[in-house]
Amino acid sequence: MGFSWESYYDGGDWDRGAYVGGDDMAAHLDAFLEVVGDVDAVASIGCGPAAAEFDVAAGRPDVSFACYDAAPAVVDANREKADREGVENVAFDVATLPDTGIDRAFDVVYCMAVLYFVRDAEAALRELWRLTAPGGALAFTYPNRNMQAWAQGLTDDDHDKREAFSLVADGENLLTYDRIHDVLGHHPRNYWTAVDADPDADYVQRSGSPAVYVRKPA
Ligand SMILES: C[S@@+](CC[C@H](N)C(=O)[O-])C[C@H]1O[C@@H](n2cnc3c(N)ncnc32)[C@H](O)[C@@H]1O
Repeated sequence: MGFSWESYYDGGDWDRGAYVGGDDMAAHLDAFLEVVGDVDAVASIGCGPAAAEFDVAAGRPDVSFACYDAAPAVVDANREKADREGVENVAFDVATLPDTGIDRAFDVVYCMAVLYFVRDAEAALRELWRLTAPGGALAFTYPNRNMQAWAQGLTDDDHDKREAFSLVADGENLLTYDRIHDVLGHHPRNYWTAVDADPDADYVQRSGSPAVYVRKPA
């Protein structure tokens, strides 16, 4: 049987951190909202524990955050945290790429460390773009050939990770800058540069899963 995010979260043995970039991701997301400008509504797709989203939302009470994940267990845990802490500008719901069923658009669509797990990454990109409002921006990481090499190097000692990244290892959902341009009609730009991330940070240096953003014309 393949890796199940629902079982992972349901097991309760997980930390509330950002998968790529860790604690730095909140400052980066906050900076990205400034780059985009005039942001009222943010969507996070595949939010997981939503660590950066909770953090940024606390400092921006006028911005609404709609966070979605395919795994109901993490959505429930996030709702409980929001209720417990009286957080009013972050909402959680279940939604699965590439067909989220979400019927509204957002100034910022944020999708970090998720496309690796979606078989039809191009359909997922089109869906994320549909959710991005004119004048807004879509930020995401994607799996490329370097990530495929990394995934193929995972051994049975890392059984869960190997299962989780099997689509990447099999080359089923790899993307390139050019392919993203072909799918969205616009060139992606470097997210780390836009948010002024430390160029020496390990997650910036890593070539396997670039973080990019695409502006949608107004
Ligand atoms: C590696 S975690 C990343 C979580 C968070 N975005 C972060 O950066 O820390 C991947 C998340 O994507 C979710 N996920 C996996 N496949 C998905 C899909 N098809 N649609 C939406 N979410 C998905 C998983 O449940 C998991 O929470």
